[in-house]
Amino acid sequence: MSAATSLLKQHLQQRQMLGKTHVALRPGTMEKLSGLGRPPAARTVPEPEPQRSIAAVPAAALRVLRDTPPPETKKAELLEVAGATIEEKLAALHTMAETWEPARAMMSLRKTMVFALGNPQASLMFVGEAPGAEEEKLREPFVGPAGQKLTAIIKAMGLDRPKVYISNICKFRPAMENQGSGNRKPTAEEMRACLPFVLTEIDLIRPKVIVALGATAAEGLGIPGTVGGLRGKFHSTSGIPTMVTYHPSYLLREEQTGDGIRAKRAVWEDMLKVMEKLGLPISEKQRGYFQAK
Ligand code: URA
Repeated sequence: MSAATSLLKQHLQQRQMLGKTHVALRPGTMEKLSGLGRPPAARTVPEPEPQRSIAAVPAAALRVLRDTPPPETKKAELLEVAGATIEEKLAALHTMAETWEPARAMMSLRKTMVFALGNPQASLMFVGEAPGAEEEKLREPFVGPAGQKLTAIIKAMGLDRPKVYISNICKFRPAMENQGSGNRKPTAEEMRACLPFVLTEIDLIRPKVIVALGATAAEGLGIPGTVGGLRGKFHSTSGIPTMVTYHPSYLLREEQTGDGIRAKRAVWEDMLKVMEKLGLPISEKQRGYFQAK
């Protein structure tokens, strides 16, 4: 495939993800693309420019559209990336996310992309909501206060950040009026625009267990409900056991204003189940963490 065809394919896939079924072409473009070499007649562009139907798309582009499964299927939400290894494919996916048109077209997401971090061979993958102010500054997920809480959870499990893979359902910080350091949850539509990335990451990494941090991440992965109702048992994302637990921000809030120890124990019980599923060693001391005195 030539570079031009590859670019055209990527563009058309992005349009398709946006639900666009028609492509408008300037008069003469078809002839150029078909290699007929007949330049468009000078100043014959009618006003307004006609919207050509998909029937006017060159054969090569149509083949691309026909070969791509419709967006309703899970397969269609996976992105095709070049590369010989998982690392190379993730790098290509990262590059693709930088200019992802479905996210840019929404205007409600900021422009700085924060991808993911960690071990492409990880058995355990965490999925959060969206980057916040600190993550956007450093372009790394979970580096602010919630990130420090997540790091503590990972350490309590006997692991460390480089051993796991940490991603977000939405790759861009949701925009707000007078944003400052404020953050908001991504909307369902914003998550949908980024979903192909996290699904492709899951497909490439094939972790043994996924942990969805909070109800928003769970909803984005197709597991709707409250954390209270979903936690404590495994659900499935693309066939991979998925534990839903409280978001680290919830733990921070509960520490300040609620029952911090109860919230921490709930998350910890979920993590013990994850450790059992992964076959990780669990000491008696670990089993007893965060018990109310
Ligand atoms: N909260 C999230 O859900 N993701 C981040 O990356 C940071 C905070």
